[in-house]
Amino acid sequence: MTSTSLLGRSLLNETRLSKRSLVSLIVGLVLGFCLAELYIYSSMPERGNINNANHSHDMLELSGPEQDIGTHEHSNENTSIAEKLHSEVRILCWIMTNPSNHKKKARHVKRTWGKRCNKLIFMSSAKDEELDAVALPIGEGRNNLWGKTKEAYKYIYEHHINDADWFLKADDDTYTIVENMRYMLYPYNPETPVYFGCKFKPYVKQGYMSGGAGYVLSREAVRRFVVEALPNPKLCKKDNDGAEDVEMGKCLENVKVMAGDSRDSIGRGRFFPFVPEDHLKPNVDPKYWYWQYLYYKTNEGMDGCSDYAISFHYVSPKQMYVLEYFIYHLRPYGIVDKPDVLPNKLALGQLMPAPKELNQTEEFKPAEQSNTTNTTKSEQEAR
Ligand SMILES: *[C@@H]1O[C@H](CO)[C@@H](O)[C@H](O)[C@H]1NC(C)=O
Ligand SMILES: *[C@@H]1O[C@H](CO)[C@@H](O)[C@H](O)[C@H]1NC(C)=O
Ligand SMILES: *[C@@H]1O[C@H](CO)[C@@H](O)[C@H](O)[C@H]1NC(C)=O
Ligand SMILES: *[C@@H]1O[C@H](CO)[C@@H](O)[C@H](O)[C@H]1NC(C)=O
Ligand SMILES: *[C@@H]1O[C@H](CO)[C@@H](O)[C@H](O)[C@H]1NC(C)=O
Repeated sequence: MTSTSLLGRSLLNETRLSKRSLVSLIVGLVLGFCLAELYIYSSMPERGNINNANHSHDMLELSGPEQDIGTHEHSNENTSIAEKLHSEVRILCWIMTNPSNHKKKARHVKRTWGKRCNKLIFMSSAKDEELDAVALPIGEGRNNLWGKTKEAYKYIYEHHINDADWFLKADDDTYTIVENMRYMLYPYNPETPVYFGCKFKPYVKQGYMSGGAGYVLSREAVRRFVVEALPNPKLCKKDNDGAEDVEMGKCLENVKVMAGDSRDSIGRGRFFPFVPEDHLKPNVDPKYWYWQYLYYKTNEGMDGCSDYAISFHYVSPKQMYVLEYFIYHLRPYGIVDKPDVLPNKLALGQLMPAPKELNQTEEFKPAEQSNTTNTTKSEQEAR
């Protein structure tokens, strides 16, 4: 805007200029134009490209607020069932983090969903006062994730095995709806050797749970892992490198810990290894690794995600506060949900029956049209 009007005024005066001042005018115009371009470019907000398959990774860098944003109570909210489950289904959450992520990511887990766990422990390689992080005797980096997971469960078994019934491993970019995890776990006996997460098909006979979506072990599963599997190199990989989630899956299978089915009663998923927008997207590429890896066939779009979803991954610190607001504060006025009745408790060793899967062809088949000749065109389009 500024550079164009400047240009216009200068051109009007052009005829009266000497050759020398014409040269300096041109230099000035070019310089002015460049500065204006630079200004416009630098003041443009940064935007992720929504068509970029990597955008969920870009989102990771969206930092959270420096100060705690606070919260408030809702005087008419009835939390009695959630409170009952808070004391009956005790969950210890441990967060895989590292010193460079303490301030950047881990603190935002502590300020958001982490506070809903019965116990929250940050597993790192250095202490941190704000997080009360545990400094595990292990190096950092991708090549140590498996080693760190082993050390973390050893630490938990030694110090906290009686403080909870279930033991969740999550990353510092996982967001978890802890109430929904308690609801899923409620019928199970914590002495049943079982674990839950987003189940993948390859590498392990009974399947294994994606690391990023988080996975939750029963107390008996933790005991078998630490006491029976870890000391035996035939059952559990001794080295610290390797794919953490696959090694965990092999190890747990070797000590007969069952890979549970975390889908809801109508077959929708509850643990997710990507952000919500990725899981809601229809017309997915069936060749993409995720759809090849998934243990259970899953519907697309709104029918693929449970109303009682438990976890999402690659959630940026900033997005964690957005999810907090959407899940725990924002309400559409006049719509109140009646909670489902809690299921009966299962016996030791017993699992929930497989969900009644949605019959996709039946669900999406348009209603049978007995007489279409008597409908107008606009009526047909509205259908
Ligand atoms: C995503 O990012 C990784 C690492 O930068 C790159 O190797 C890969 O090709 C990217 N994938 C797509 C689909 O752009
Ligand atoms: C809260 O919900 C529980 C369970 O649905 C119900 O028994 C109780 O009466 C409710 N309390 C109030 C104050 O509405
Ligand atoms: C789904 O519905 C079709 C048509 O009604 C039926 O033939 C099929 O057996 C159903 N499949 C399942 C798994 O229920
Ligand atoms: C459809 O409706 C028209 C007009 O009412 C009627 O003539 C025709 O027989 C109907 N066709 C069927 C298949 O019911
Ligand atoms: C369409 O249906 C209505 C009500 O059933 C009937 O009165 C009307 O005659 C029908 N029109 C045609 C073109 O069949």
